Amino acid sequence: MRRVVGVTALLAAVPVLCLALMAAGGAAEPVAAVLAIGACVLASAAVAALWQRDVLRLKAILRAPAAPAAGRWPAIPAVGRIASDIQRLSRGLAARAAETDRARRASEAIIQRLPDPLLLLRADGAASRSNAAAQAAFGGEMAAVLRHPGLRGAIDRAFASGLAQTADVVLAVPVPREVQATVIPLDPWLPDGTAALLVLSDRSRERAVERTRSDFVTNASHELRTPLASLMGFIETLQGPAADDVPAQQRFLGIMAEQAGRMHRLIDDLLSLSRVELNEHLPPADKVDVVDLARRVAAGFEPRLAERRVRLVLDLHDDVAPLVGDGDQVAQVLTNLIDNAVKYGGDGHDVRLFVGAAEGARWPARAGVLIAVEDQGPGIARVHLPRLTERFYRVDKARSRGAGGTGLGLAIVKHIVNRHRGQLAIDSVEGQGSTFSVWLPAEAENTATIAR
Ligand SMILES: Nc1ncnc2c1ncn2[C@@H]1O[C@H](COP(=O)(O)OP(=O)(O)OP(=O)(O)O)[C@@H](O)[C@H]1O
Ligand SMILES: [Mg+2]
Repeated sequence: MRRVVGVTALLAAVPVLCLALMAAGGAAEPVAAVLAIGACVLASAAVAALWQRDVLRLKAILRAPAAPAAGRWPAIPAVGRIASDIQRLSRGLAARAAETDRARRASEAIIQRLPDPLLLLRADGAASRSNAAAQAAFGGEMAAVLRHPGLRGAIDRAFASGLAQTADVVLAVPVPREVQATVIPLDPWLPDGTAALLVLSDRSRERAVERTRSDFVTNASHELRTPLASLMGFIETLQGPAADDVPAQQRFLGIMAEQAGRMHRLIDDLLSLSRVELNEHLPPADKVDVVDLARRVAAGFEPRLAERRVRLVLDLHDDVAPLVGDGDQVAQVLTNLIDNAVKYGGDGHDVRLFVGAAEGARWPARAGVLIAVEDQGPGIARVHLPRLTERFYRVDKARSRGAGGTGLGLAIVKHIVNRHRGQLAIDSVEGQGSTFSVWLPAEAENTATIAR
């Protein structure tokens, strides 16, 4: 209102002053001059109100250009034209913003759906974002991964040279894996400050295949040589000196069957080890009820227990959370550990199988399941403990071989535990017995994200 009065005064000031002076000087009839002044003020007020209303409508259109302007359109044609120009301009800007947003979402989708882990790096080398594959592969370990000296070196070289750099690195977390890292510096940087892309292509599978193949040839040929030599020896004896000795033939055939069985077991174990190794970097996804599984595995041992007069004491707690794991592999862990406890624990002794919640600072604080197999056997000397999970490592080769062991059981356990992102602990006191404990996480671990 104040603005309308002001504008009215501005418009009417000069004609009113002129009319007043003319009336004072006698050039105009006083009554006519007063009427003219009144008309002048009224007309000025009307124009001021009209402008004021149109300016307010223009302001409203500027604030919400897309809103329908029916009944609220400026009456002054010039102001109306400005209003329609504003609407056209804003429609153009909105279309361009939608297009930019579509392009941004498309590139975000490409980044997210890339099968290889991808990290977006800021100029200081820290990760600002990562795609789904990177989160699945490295989870909360992303910062630790970026601290790897080989990776840091490649990032520094890429920033210094402005050229893409690659490096082959072995990452220790969350599971050991061999990765080819490619750092691609960006010029110009992305609007969010991303200065480089880091692609981490997992080469573990290829390398594991190469290693497994060469290890298989070396170890298997070495381990197969003994039973094979024995078989060949007996075949020769059966063909020659024992050709007519029926009782000796029967005895030799028994030994030959045992040696052939040993070769068979060895090949089975080698194959299952290489299968586990091949998938070690792919976390399992099935739900596993460990208590139920433990009951079934234990039932399968009944004939062996009876034969060796061993009592398997079950200490199974049903209240544990179900595991995210691979049922067959968890069953294999249970089988291998119980098998060792029965085999090396000594005839007539108890073996205890515990499945329940993990307690104590030794295990991660996250939800998990503890599997422990305890025997009352001769125990294992401390020097052997760190090497027990190596392939073909046996404390007492002759005794293990005599018991039909191939030395691969604990290596298989270790790789299965690694695949499940779990932990294996071996405690043993010589003369008192051993406890093999396996902790497996209840949930898949890869849920953490990088803070922006
Ligand atoms: N409960 C145990 N008590 C004493 N020694 C053990 C026990 N478990 C394993 N060992 C020792 O660790 C070695 C490696 O065990 P592992 O299970 O890997 O092989 P294995 O039992 O010899 O053969 P496999 O399990 O392939 O049939 C064994 O040879 C044995 O010397
Ligand atoms: Mg074994």
